[in-house]
Amino acid sequence: MSMQLRLDKYLADMGVGARSEIKAWIRKGRVTLNGEVCRKPESKVEPSVDEVLFDDSRVDYVEYCYIMLHKPAGVVSATSDNVSRTVLDLISDKQRKDLFPVGRLDKDTEGLLLITNDGGLAHRLLSPKKHVDKVYYAKVKGEVTREDAEAFAEGVDIGEESLTLPARLKIIASGEVSEAELTIQEGKFHQVKRMFAAVGKEVIYLKRLSMGSLSLDPGLQPGEYRELTEEELQLLRD
Ligand code: URA
Repeated sequence: MSMQLRLDKYLADMGVGARSEIKAWIRKGRVTLNGEVCRKPESKVEPSVDEVLFDDSRVDYVEYCYIMLHKPAGVVSATSDNVSRTVLDLISDKQRKDLFPVGRLDKDTEGLLLITNDGGLAHRLLSPKKHVDKVYYAKVKGEVTREDAEAFAEGVDIGEESLTLPARLKIIASGEVSEAELTIQEGKFHQVKRMFAAVGKEVIYLKRLSMGSLSLDPGLQPGEYRELTEEELQLLRD
């Protein structure tokens, strides 16, 4: 597929600088196109065919970017925020400036967060109609019981128009503080916390383990990230 774009946009998309600076740099002769200095910001470039160098370093064009982040507590799932650090602030080597998180985790929630600029994929993963499984590990104050599991399987009232969709609760440990894994197919605001609240319990720690076919890489510490593998991406697209 042919996808020509202007040389200044090509470089701006790849985060080389602001469009206005880039235009000036091109006019100064700092950019080569296929081995020749090119002083025209409006020149057309065909990514993956043409070779672009800025100050003698090759700038490859990356159209889509897919990052798995182990979100730590204390950062917000937004692209910008006046007060708090965002999940995007954690990505230090962005290849695209149009990245966004796919859905939201609460500020105090940890775990799997996909960051991309692929709006189509994000839409498919978030669409309520697609019933994508999201698995959460939760620590809950008080005893989590079989009755809770039955209630979640039936659907509980969290103050929305309808009950929650059937969800699977796997109890790992039950006691003063219980541990459980909850699989839901929706993503309402504070959904997991509100579901436990509906059965009279408080979530004191929450971590997302997976979303559809994508599981949090156990090698990633909170705050760490990596690109998705080809295989992970393929499975997500299926
Ligand atoms: N449910 C919640 O309550 N919080 C999250 O961050 C994700 C799901």
